[in-house]
Amino acid sequence: MAHEDAHQDTRGFWEQFYAEREQVWSGRPNVVLVEEVEGLAPGTALDLGCGEGADAIWLASRGWRVVAADISQAALDRAAAHAAAVGVDGRISWARHDFSRSIPPGRYDLVSAHFLHSPVDDPRDAALRAAAEAVAPAGTLLVVSHEAVPWHEHMDFPTPAEVLDSLEIDPAEWMVEQLTSRPRRTTAPDGGEVDVSDSVVRLRRSSPAS
Ligand SMILES: C[S@@+](CC[C@H](N)C(=O)[O-])C[C@H]1O[C@@H](n2cnc3c(N)ncnc32)[C@H](O)[C@@H]1O
Repeated sequence: MAHEDAHQDTRGFWEQFYAEREQVWSGRPNVVLVEEVEGLAPGTALDLGCGEGADAIWLASRGWRVVAADISQAALDRAAAHAAAVGVDGRISWARHDFSRSIPPGRYDLVSAHFLHSPVDDPRDAALRAAAEAVAPAGTLLVVSHEAVPWHEHMDFPTPAEVLDSLEIDPAEWMVEQLTSRPRRTTAPDGGEVDVSDSVVRLRRSSPAS
């Protein structure tokens, strides 16, 4: 498939995904984001695959200045409306990117990618390598992925070690702060309560003096 066709397919898939329902996600920030970031001093943050913006809005409400990016304009518009409704729109820039081509430029104190999975033309590995590049010295990279999800039984999700490997980082430059499988209880698409497991990879980039 030509590159432009692949881009249109991926974008079309996600635009339709968001257009089909008024709200897809819960509107609450991801549990692991809150657990892992609560103790960090606010700075600049990049949220890759921000969807409807709940993580970016939570970060902004905690004092972070956020760039939040996604391929879907419908998701970004919805996210921006939520941010304006809760009064944090001045702290968030929304950016449309197809991560197979680009991510927002710059260096950030926190780069967060939660559930950056796609059934079409998955940009994940290249995007996560670019995400690591975008972390400022002494900054944090937080990658949270599905690991075991009952309603996606047929899909092959990476273990925390596989996520770490895919980043291709220089171990001399990074400290591994979390490399864990974290179980949680959630609501399945059919409304039932189920156990899932998230893979959590949190890394800290060394500062020039360290
Ligand atoms: C499973 S959702 C997760 C959304 C959000 N991070 C959350 O935790 O609720 C994956 C998100 O990645 C975005 N995405 C998928 N492929 C992309 C690509 N090639 N470039 C940019 N964003 C992409 C989708 O539009 C979607 O919002």
